[in-house]
Amino acid sequence: MTSMNSTATRYHRRGFLLRLAPAAAFFALPGAFAEELVRTPRQAEGPFYPDHLPLDTDNDLLMVNDAITPAVGEITHLSGRILDPRGAPLRNALVEIWQVDAHGVYLHSRDTHAAREKHFQGFGRFLTGSTGEYYFRTIKPVAYPGRTRHIHFAVKLKGREKWTTQCYVKGEPLNERDGIYRALTDPKARAAVTVDFAPLPGSRIGELAARFDIVLGLTPEQ
Ligand SMILES: [Fe+2]
Repeated sequence: MTSMNSTATRYHRRGFLLRLAPAAAFFALPGAFAEELVRTPRQAEGPFYPDHLPLDTDNDLLMVNDAITPAVGEITHLSGRILDPRGAPLRNALVEIWQVDAHGVYLHSRDTHAAREKHFQGFGRFLTGSTGEYYFRTIKPVAYPGRTRHIHFAVKLKGREKWTTQCYVKGEPLNERDGIYRALTDPKARAAVTVDFAPLPGSRIGELAARFDIVLGLTPEQ
């Protein structure tokens, strides 16, 4: 009796679960109801990813190791989150940035149009935790011959190919004359990579703050 009863209960439960399954599957479809976030557009890595890494690759680009002299430039606290299209944070994402120094020069042996500003680290890395948040202390990017102000980003996640984009300064007049920026024809895509470099509240030395969230697609290609 006991065994028959428990068999009947199992069947009953299984039947109940089976009846629920199609609805549950429907609710779990990505984007079935929730509005998905705008994917951050991919942009080319460009030719100046450092060909030799600095001695220091931390997230403070103003100080190389324990230098006493900080880099020249407008100090900027640059932060944001790495997200999936539903807004869930992505942890263990290695975020890398690289940009020119105050003289407009990359940390790259082929960028020789001017002397490097040797106190600027030029490149930095940050590994996200459970909130998907990253943070860098750097300088507001400067324009260099042929390009508007921008910061290069690479995001590396296990099992995916390296993903790259570029972040731009809102209100910068040169943006409209920059071929790589103008290649973003969708206004939503442009907005997704154009951020405010605004005065940091309470800063007495004119520091800036910028927020740049990166929304990655769910497939490796996006
Ligand atoms: Fe660049």
